[in-house]
Amino acid sequence: MSTDVSVYEVGLRDGLQNEQAIVPLVDKLRLAQALVASGLRRIEAASFVSPTWIPQLADADEFCRSLPKSENVTFSALCPNLRGLERALATDLPEIAVFVSSSETHNKKNVNRSIRQSLDEFKPLIEVARKANRRVRGYVSTVWGCAYEGFVPTEQSLAVTRELLALGCYQVSLGDTIGAGTPRQTRTLLATYLAEFLPSQLAMHMHDTRGTALANVLVGLECGIRDFDSSVGGMGGCPYAPGAAGNVATEDLVYMLHGMGMPTGVDPEAILEAARVAEAVVGRGLPGKVHQAGWFPKLSPELSRLK
Ligand code: HMG
Ligand code: MG
Repeated sequence: MSTDVSVYEVGLRDGLQNEQAIVPLVDKLRLAQALVASGLRRIEAASFVSPTWIPQLADADEFCRSLPKSENVTFSALCPNLRGLERALATDLPEIAVFVSSSETHNKKNVNRSIRQSLDEFKPLIEVARKANRRVRGYVSTVWGCAYEGFVPTEQSLAVTRELLALGCYQVSLGDTIGAGTPRQTRTLLATYLAEFLPSQLAMHMHDTRGTALANVLVGLECGIRDFDSSVGGMGGCPYAPGAAGNVATEDLVYMLHGMGMPTGVDPEAILEAARVAEAVVGRGLPGKVHQAGWFPKLSPELSRLK
């Protein structure tokens, strides 16, 4: 089994979009700096969505222009439409992400459009983004289940994934938006996906509402997936998917991967510090386990070498 794993950090976006408090820009930058210092190489920083819909990320333009410069880090941001892309192109972000749901009701609640309308708008959006040398990632939400529609047939998410890849997304992240998935379901679902797509075309974005995110990640690893989204401290949730809790915590994911001999490039000490910074900026304790319990065995030179 290949040991190269990529962690895609979403705390600044998926995390902060779901906080009640609006975090000031200076604190967002403090958290961004801590995440960069931890060795994470892919960080989703913000969303260019409507400030009426997501006021927590209304400062995305200024924030993205103020991000710490680092050659090793690729920053990205969500764009729901061409207006969002226009805003992204006014920054020097090298990557953007489009997002669409596999269930009609969630898509309508989330972006006020049908799935078809979202995909139709992504066609010119992705063309323009790629012409401007921006890589485009895709998200498909509610793959494991929908807060409004219940179980979502895999054929629905598969069709949306197929279309996003055909439009030019380099990878599609499969979202368990409400954290409903269990391992056997994940194995069956991924087998269907991997009959059609390469593992490198897929990522997993697991919310941990019911405590099954890491178990599902483990199944993903066994099936060959090597790209996992996570959120520092376990922040996160979709304001338009009731009952969705945070993503799998970055420090918990990294702890498991390092323990399995799968280096992530993330420094154990520094990611625990980033989780502490996250707690300080949102002003509450966060659910991630490893920043509470500490690394085991206690951080040692051997573990640090494994980063
Ligand atoms: P709408 O109200 O239908 O938009 O919202 P509209 O096109 O009718 O425009 C209305 C007004 O919004 C106009 O302004 C537009 O200019 C403005 P006015 O002319 O009235 O002054 N507007 C914008 N302003 C700034 N940036 C924009 C933009 N677009 C329009 N990009 C819209 C449609 C998509 C904008 C809205 O529904 C929206 O912003 N939704 C965002 C919802 C969201 O961010 N959800 C969370 C992220 S998705 C997620 O968390 C799931 C994920 O993590 C994966 C998983 O877990 O499964 C990715
Ligand atoms: Mg999410």
